[in-house]
Amino acid sequence: MTTEAESGTPGAPRAAGPEGGVDASRIAAHLATFADLTEPGPGCTRLAFSPLERRAHAVFARHMADLGLSVGTDHAGNTVAELPGTGEPRAIGTGSHLDTVPSGGGFDGIVGVVSAMEVAEVMVRSGTPHRRPWRFVAFAAEEGARFGQACNGSRMAAGLTSSADLSGFTDRDGVTMADAMAGVGLRPDLVDRSRWRAEDWFAFVELHIEQGEVLRSRGLDVGVVDVISGSTRLRVRATGRATHSGGTPMHLRRDAMVVAAECVVLGDRIARDPARRGVRVTVGRLTVEPGSITTIPGEVEFFVDVRDVDPVRQRETARVLAQEFAAVAMARGVELVTETIADTPPVTLPDWVADHARAASDGLGLPYQVLPSGASHDIQQIGHIIPAGLLFVPSEAGLSHSPDEFTPTEQIVPGVRVLLRTLLRLDEADR
Ligand code: GLV
Ligand code: MN
Ligand code: MN
Repeated sequence: MTTEAESGTPGAPRAAGPEGGVDASRIAAHLATFADLTEPGPGCTRLAFSPLERRAHAVFARHMADLGLSVGTDHAGNTVAELPGTGEPRAIGTGSHLDTVPSGGGFDGIVGVVSAMEVAEVMVRSGTPHRRPWRFVAFAAEEGARFGQACNGSRMAAGLTSSADLSGFTDRDGVTMADAMAGVGLRPDLVDRSRWRAEDWFAFVELHIEQGEVLRSRGLDVGVVDVISGSTRLRVRATGRATHSGGTPMHLRRDAMVVAAECVVLGDRIARDPARRGVRVTVGRLTVEPGSITTIPGEVEFFVDVRDVDPVRQRETARVLAQEFAAVAMARGVELVTETIADTPPVTLPDWVADHARAASDGLGLPYQVLPSGASHDIQQIGHIIPAGLLFVPSEAGLSHSPDEFTPTEQIVPGVRVLLRTLLRLDEADR
């Protein structure tokens, strides 16, 4: 991806205000608590709308209740805590998500929720005066890994996904999103009542790990995001003929796996075409039936994730992939059906919110980088109804959606300070 470089004033970090109360050991302890809430296996596995995700939300809720905040979980599974304001009705907010991909890390999303927990604690301990209600949010089911669609809790809060849609998403075991939600005590039938009203809000700022290497490579602690990539997700089913691997000569085969393999390589080649520079195409899940060493694959299903900061290129690439996949299949006598299972456009974040984040970094003497986000974020959905901002902290080696995902606590602290200063500025601002 291209990156527009822009840096604030370099200098030694200063934190004379309440930002000085941001505490590394508390942040580390919260991260460790969440890291323990995982299925067995490498890294952290806490899937969307699973009992473990609900337990993580309960940890967040308990922390906020212990601080004296009012806290509740809505029908979509989003947990919201509020520190009341003193006059201004429109709230400011911060938060992120607590679910992970299979064998993911303990930082994607979690750092933003832990930052919200720490900002709340600093505000309560310091008694810093403020005008607006401050809301701290753990969004539900941000990861698209289980159901295909990402940012589910934030989409429901923004009114972009409604109750009627929830039976249309299924996981690999055939469980619908609606059933998964009901299974953990949520009310998929009532999620439309959990929509946020734009008029109740002034601005929302999410802090997240970068999931790339720009900040690390430049030795910076803070990123201010200007645009968030969109994603189009395709489910592709190739149906050939399952029969004997020894008895069937090569010229009589209709091998669904060979078609899928050609499609995977073709997708990679199309995305590497310099004319499409910036698009990313990934096949991250593929199942082969009957899955026997001695049977020609009769059925292959795979999923394609197309990401871009350019909505036209994103959709056009998805369309070209579907067309080219069909041609590959036809040449081998295999049937192929491509379906779009999720489609989220890129979002350009408003300059005026980013300006507050940049001024906050400058005020704390922390140089920052303006950069795009390759990953999706809850703020992308919330940004449809509330002016939104996104801050990044560095990711070690740029790794994410991996057990090796890591950000040292000392590199989270500056981000939390900038987040707190940004929220304080937004608390005072009328725009
Ligand atoms: C969310 O983490 C995404 O897949 O971008
Ligand atoms: Mn995330
Ligand atoms: Mn993620």
